Amino acid sequence: MIEITDLRKTYRMGNVEVNALDGVTLGIEKGEFLGIVGASGSGKTTLLHMLGLLDQPTSGKIVIDGLDVLALTDYEKTMFRLYKLGYVFQDYALVPDLTVMENVSLPAMLRQDRTEEQIRKDSYGILRKIGLCDRRDHLPRELSGGQQQRVSIARAMVNRPDILFADEPCANLDSENSRMVLDLFREINEDMKQTIVMVSHEDWHKDYFHRIVQLKDGKIVNT
Ligand SMILES: Nc1ncnc2c1ncn2[C@@H]1O[C@H](COP(=O)(O)OP(=O)(O)O)[C@@H](O)[C@H]1O
Ligand SMILES: [Mg+2]
Repeated sequence: MIEITDLRKTYRMGNVEVNALDGVTLGIEKGEFLGIVGASGSGKTTLLHMLGLLDQPTSGKIVIDGLDVLALTDYEKTMFRLYKLGYVFQDYALVPDLTVMENVSLPAMLRQDRTEEQIRKDSYGILRKIGLCDRRDHLPRELSGGQQQRVSIARAMVNRPDILFADEPCANLDSENSRMVLDLFREINEDMKQTIVMVSHEDWHKDYFHRIVQLKDGKIVNT
């Protein structure tokens, strides 16, 4: 359902050019839990940003469910992100002044296609799934890192996106919390048939992935 063809991204810094992505061709199946691995600087974040429509590649093609997403206007891309895609970042990126419940509800509010009552129900349901109902009125800073990351996963899931992108979501967590987060991704993937594309640099995370793509200098290498 995601077809990537000869994707390239060149960053220019003064006179220096960096080929962060140097011709990536890859297909990702619906319902796949795909791991993207590789050394620091190999292009993992760049690839995720291109697939998540957060940045524009220099050349190449990305087709999602038959739609040539790079040909969309900015407004169409924003709508596509809101309706189809979810994101989890390394630093959680929760809104500090909003409660757990409000953070989780936020993407649903932006979409404006549900009543407030329905949004409350959906947000509560997903908080129950991650085991943090009793913390719904807390602020992010009152939670541990692992709990904050679970809240950010709940926020990414509240709109039931087709594809979930996660960039080193366990980078700031100890192994116990990392395992909780990975177990949650696995559960989401199995229960909701969610496609998940996750960047990781930890070897033991590989047990969770259906398939692994390794990047080196902006290219896919065989593992
Ligand atoms: N905004 C940017 N401007 C210039 N160079 C960048 C930018 N973002 C990434 N790069 C470069 O692109 C390469 C790939 O970076 P990145 O995708 O962040 O790698 P990874 O996530 O695998 O560590 C690196 O050489 C990095 O320095
Ligand atoms: Mg990165």
